[in-house]
Amino acid sequence: AGKQRADGTMSREAGKSTGEIVNLMSIDAQRLQDLMAYFHTLWSAPFQITVAIVMLWFEVGPAVFAGVAVLAASVPLTGVIARRMRSLQQQLMKVKDERIKVTNEVMSGMKIIKFYAWETSFGESITSIRNEELKILWRYRMMQTWSRFMWGAVPVLVSAATFTAFVLAGNELTASKAFTSLALFNILRFPTQMLPNMINNCMEARVSVLRLQEFLETPEISALPPPGIVVPGAPTVSVRDAELRWPDGSPLIDHISFECKPGQLTMIVGATGAGKSGLLASLIGDIKAARGSVSTGGNIGYAAQVAWIQNSTVQDNICFGKRFS
Ligand SMILES: Nc1ncnc2c1ncn2[C@@H]1O[C@H](COP(=O)(O)OP(=O)(O)OP(=O)(O)O)[C@@H](O)[C@H]1O
Ligand SMILES: [Mg+2]
Repeated sequence: AGKQRADGTMSREAGKSTGEIVNLMSIDAQRLQDLMAYFHTLWSAPFQITVAIVMLWFEVGPAVFAGVAVLAASVPLTGVIARRMRSLQQQLMKVKDERIKVTNEVMSGMKIIKFYAWETSFGESITSIRNEELKILWRYRMMQTWSRFMWGAVPVLVSAATFTAFVLAGNELTASKAFTSLALFNILRFPTQMLPNMINNCMEARVSVLRLQEFLETPEISALPPPGIVVPGAPTVSVRDAELRWPDGSPLIDHISFECKPGQLTMIVGATGAGKSGLLASLIGDIKAARGSVSTGGNIGYAAQVAWIQNSTVQDNICFGKRFS
């Protein structure tokens, strides 16, 4: 709050675009939320693993380490698969965005496309994006298959290794030992798969926290200049030999002077990109004059070029939450 002007444009000082903020909300905040769901596995997973291994030790003795070794070997492998899946998913999202964008453009410009008989070339461009999407989707599904395979195969391999070691050591494998051990290995399954994921998630969450922190610490936009005193006869808007620059330092307007008297209607005319919106931004205090002075008196009502309108009545849009009186 407070970082966004009522017209929906971001503060020029805050320097964050709407797209970046959408990302902060949809990716970074979501990441923190996802982390919280399994946050306690960070301590409970090592605890569960320790308890399960100790109890297995009582069942099958040192043979447990054959199983644990297989389990430990599978952890980096699942990690690699998970990372690969995540990167594929990101690629997939990107291609999907691209496809939706192009399809939207084609749909909204259908009339023109038909007029110029451009259907085939636009159709081809959409098809090529779709093919790209399919290719990535195929790779993603393959990885998913491997991931499911690991999920099913690892417990079998773990118990097979343990029991083999147990029998080879000259012990007798009884049903009670076998089934108790199987149950204990089953307990090991979740924490060993989850722990590496969680460590990874924590590192990602740290990056997100830093990004959110950076955003929350951006300077607040300066408040609108207080309503100046209207001196009868004096101009309400007065710009004297001002040099205006965008916050990034690029020049906007140099040497501009004008005055608006009360009751006067003033129009600013200029080619597109001439700096009209920039000039208005300086009148409402979004841009500071690098030289000269910009002063306004009385109250300011600003209707932005790209208006931000609430889904509400005209009156509500004007009063903006205040009581109509
Ligand atoms: N935030 C910004 N930082 C740097 N340069 C900018 C910024 N916003 C706009 N500009 C550039 O400043 C110039 C003036 O832009 P401005 O939006 O004031 O023009 P305009 O006269 O309002 O045009 P239009 O008639 O299209 O609304 C343009 O060349 C534009 O590319
Ligand atoms: Mg403009």
